Amino acid sequence: MLTQAELKQNVADAAVEYVLPFLESDTILGVGTGSTVDIFIDAIAPYKDRFLGAASSSERSSARMKAHGINVFDLNQVAEMPLYVDGADEIDHELNMIKGGGGALTREKIVASVANQFVCIVDESKLVDCLGKFPLPVEVIPMARAVVARRLASLGGRPVLRDGFITDNACEILDVSDFSITKPAELESLINDIPGVVSCGLFAIAGADVALVSTQDGVRRLGKASS
Ligand code: 5RP
Repeated sequence: MLTQAELKQNVADAAVEYVLPFLESDTILGVGTGSTVDIFIDAIAPYKDRFLGAASSSERSSARMKAHGINVFDLNQVAEMPLYVDGADEIDHELNMIKGGGGALTREKIVASVANQFVCIVDESKLVDCLGKFPLPVEVIPMARAVVARRLASLGGRPVLRDGFITDNACEILDVSDFSITKPAELESLINDIPGVVSCGLFAIAGADVALVSTQDGVRRLGKASS
């Protein structure tokens, strides 16, 4: 029986195999945030001379990549990326995701939007039939925390402030339980439209293109070119 750490290592290694054919001397790779991505960063580091560098979704990932000698580019310098690699807190079979457990959702959404393909790397505990068991992170401007919380409650959610947590954008996170997320893209739009919301951890309007899911029987690929 593989442990969760071994499952994460296997999916990180599979992600490196997936990424390598895309790498050229001028390639910039989009890199997400989280414990699975940390392992991916360590696994891609030996290949750092095969690509130009990375655009990062968090200070945490930037620091880890820089420690490996990977060039980290400001996103304003990057017009195009073939791939964005990131984890998720939940992913369904249509490759809609909940992200933001690590609080990096806004930068993740921005960096992902520049890439041609979102490659989601997860262990099988994250694959669900319906999103919503994991509380949905919503990043808010601090002065709007209370009004946004009331609006989220009126949509059926139960928002709780992530105590003592400040994002890389100097904002706060409301973790929202009890949503029944049957129409993820619709809910994402509704939440995005609340004044004071910076971004919402639903990635459904633009979900993943490919998911690499680490199981006890190996790494499965879902989405484009499923195998
Ligand atoms: C961070 C994220 C992460 O991708 C998500 O929380 C999964 O993290 P981990 O790989 O540690 O389980 O969205 O904001």
